[in-house]
Amino acid sequence: MNIAIIGAGNVGGALGRSWAKAGHSIFFGVRDPGGTMTKAPFAVGSAGTACLVPDAVRQAEVIVLATPYEAVPDVIRTMGDVHGKIIIDCTNPLFLNAEGSLSLSVGSSTSGAEEIERLVKGARVAKAFNTYGFENFVDSSYPGYGDAKPVMLYCSDDDEAKEVVEQLATDLGFEPVDTGGLGMARSLEPLALLWIRLAMRRGRNPNFTWAMLKR
Ligand SMILES: NC(=O)c1ccc[n+]([C@@H]2O[C@H](COP(=O)([O-])OP(=O)(O)OC[C@H]3O[C@@H](n4cnc5c(N)ncnc54)[C@H](OP(=O)(O)O)[C@@H]3O)[C@@H](O)[C@H]2O)c1
Repeated sequence: MNIAIIGAGNVGGALGRSWAKAGHSIFFGVRDPGGTMTKAPFAVGSAGTACLVPDAVRQAEVIVLATPYEAVPDVIRTMGDVHGKIIIDCTNPLFLNAEGSLSLSVGSSTSGAEEIERLVKGARVAKAFNTYGFENFVDSSYPGYGDAKPVMLYCSDDDEAKEVVEQLATDLGFEPVDTGGLGMARSLEPLALLWIRLAMRRGRNPNFTWAMLKR
């Protein structure tokens, strides 16, 4: 696939590097193509091409949002025509509340992903790759659990978007789990907050994921 990843930070860099290894073509959509590649993590320069956001979007059928949630409206304004394209939202609408506690700025009756869908006219939105720290996108292996793999919980209203997420999650070593329509982002975004809080309790240790045991 030709994938435009908007943002080449922790998440964008990790996803880009891993998907490039799986054979995909990566176009990082960034604000400063020259500067970004020198400060970005994971040597993303060897994973893909850095270009301005509209140039990355033009070359890709799949667009991955990996910027801070607050930056997304700005990003969408610069993307250009996204009609028919698949947009995978990895962002989490995190903010520090008045008590100084990490919270979500939207939720319960909507979600970041649904707000994004309202802004991207004609694109097909999926929520995925938001519930773990980026370290798990670099290495998803957890030996010692038999056939059980870490799950990648995702949602979308669009069947083709779901197929794309399934493929990209599988490429990273996850078991993709379809949780339903895009409204399920109202559950997946709080799940990210839970993951972050657990990681903090473990001394900022990001080396754990969700798995699904079935019978
Ligand atoms: N960190 C995690 O482990 C993790 C895991 C899952 C999901 N998430 C979510 O994923 C998103 C990215 O997190 P991150 O940790 O990768 O953040 P990060 O390392 O700070 O990277 C953010 C990237 O977004 C770019 N950016 C910011 N504003 C932009 C704009 N207006 N236009 C274009 N690019 C812009 C930054 O570019 P510049 O270099 O130009 O500033 C940077 O490359 C967040 O929404 C976060 O909640 C994070």
